[in-house]
Amino acid sequence: MLTREDNELICQTGPGTPMGRVLRRYWHPCLLSADLPNNDGPPVQVKILGEDLVAFRDGEGRVGLIGERCPHRGASLYYGLNGGGGLMCIYHGWKFDADGNCVDMPSDMPGSRFLEKVHTTAYPVVESAGMVWAYMGPRELQPPLPDFLFNRLPPEQVVAAKSPVYCNYLQSIEGNIDSSHLGTLHRRHADFTLEPDETDRPGVPSAHQRSYLLAHYRFAEINVQDTAYGFRLIGMRPTDAGHRHLRITSHVFPVCSMIASPGVASGTFFIVPTDDENCMRFFVRCNPDRPITDDERASTYAENTIMDPADPRRRLKRADNEYLIDRAVQRTTLVSGIWPNPEQDYAVTESMGRIVDRTREHLYSADGAIIRLRQLMIRAAKGLDEGIDLPALDPAIPYHLIRSEEVIVREDDDSWLAGADAGETARPGERLW
Ligand code: FES
Ligand SMILES: [Fe+2]
Repeated sequence: MLTREDNELICQTGPGTPMGRVLRRYWHPCLLSADLPNNDGPPVQVKILGEDLVAFRDGEGRVGLIGERCPHRGASLYYGLNGGGGLMCIYHGWKFDADGNCVDMPSDMPGSRFLEKVHTTAYPVVESAGMVWAYMGPRELQPPLPDFLFNRLPPEQVVAAKSPVYCNYLQSIEGNIDSSHLGTLHRRHADFTLEPDETDRPGVPSAHQRSYLLAHYRFAEINVQDTAYGFRLIGMRPTDAGHRHLRITSHVFPVCSMIASPGVASGTFFIVPTDDENCMRFFVRCNPDRPITDDERASTYAENTIMDPADPRRRLKRADNEYLIDRAVQRTTLVSGIWPNPEQDYAVTESMGRIVDRTREHLYSADGAIIRLRQLMIRAAKGLDEGIDLPALDPAIPYHLIRSEEVIVREDDDSWLAGADAGETARPGERLW
């Protein structure tokens, strides 16, 4: 539970807000590279952190991310003509390059140099892992792009997808670090009658065994460990053979969660505020050993991006069509009656309202990671002007080694050691930040 003031503090991300200023200290994905397929192709609208922007790819392949409103009299540059070194406003012809400089002003008197005085908002961007990343904070504080494993790999070994979510970003992140919903929301009825298999032993459990454990042990003991990049959360479940099943999710402050799964190439989510009532969920997956196959690529898109064919800017499954819930399927097959998995998450997080009223919650031990995230966010938002150190900005952090894990360990093994490749402390409860 939060006070109304603290809830607003960490949910509001527009320019000048405390949380908005915290979020602007980090790089965020803002669109997919595939959204701008061609040099000099049409621009796209990008709304991020409450700011209306347009992105375009110039003749040299460079991406520009500039204010949508033309600084002359405010026409939308989304309707602009891209080419010849910039994006031209179709009202009076002012043209802007990727750095926000006005490079042409054909409607000004010959000989005038007024265009030299005109600049528009332009944010630095980097293309990596199939995404366009933006930094919207003070230039003098700009950190390097985090060196995540997927940012080190060639494009053929990475796949990225995106989907809008129609609620505040924090609700969506809280779903990513909520281990105990796995025993309910994502279950099939058949999971509750599974039998354990021979992989109930130290090591990686089979997919069957993982489903069995999540359905059979619907509770998880949640342990949270602070790290230099944010925190790790371990959802611990017992196993029939007397071991411990660990689901380790690493949360890289502020909006990145690497969700528990076996091995190094875990699925990573970035939940980026569009405005205070909408966010964009980016999903990245990589394979450090080989290219992603066409089938893997297609299934990633099919699972993570289901837009409405009649209106490709909107998700197909939404509150106004009740997420196409099938009550017969809900009785017989899927607990939610909604599919696939990401849509189940969208349905529950959006059903809370655009900004959930956190003064009315009843949190319990299963919500330990959610509580920790809120504490870190409140601390960052309140402490920014006092100059506190923000998590995940130390360039010494080995981002490429941060990962998630899902594994069975012996009862007396130290759970914090599992997946702790990025130097996370091995001592239970030790706080690094
Ligand atoms: S409003 Fe864009 S050039 Fe006049
Ligand atoms: Fe989920």
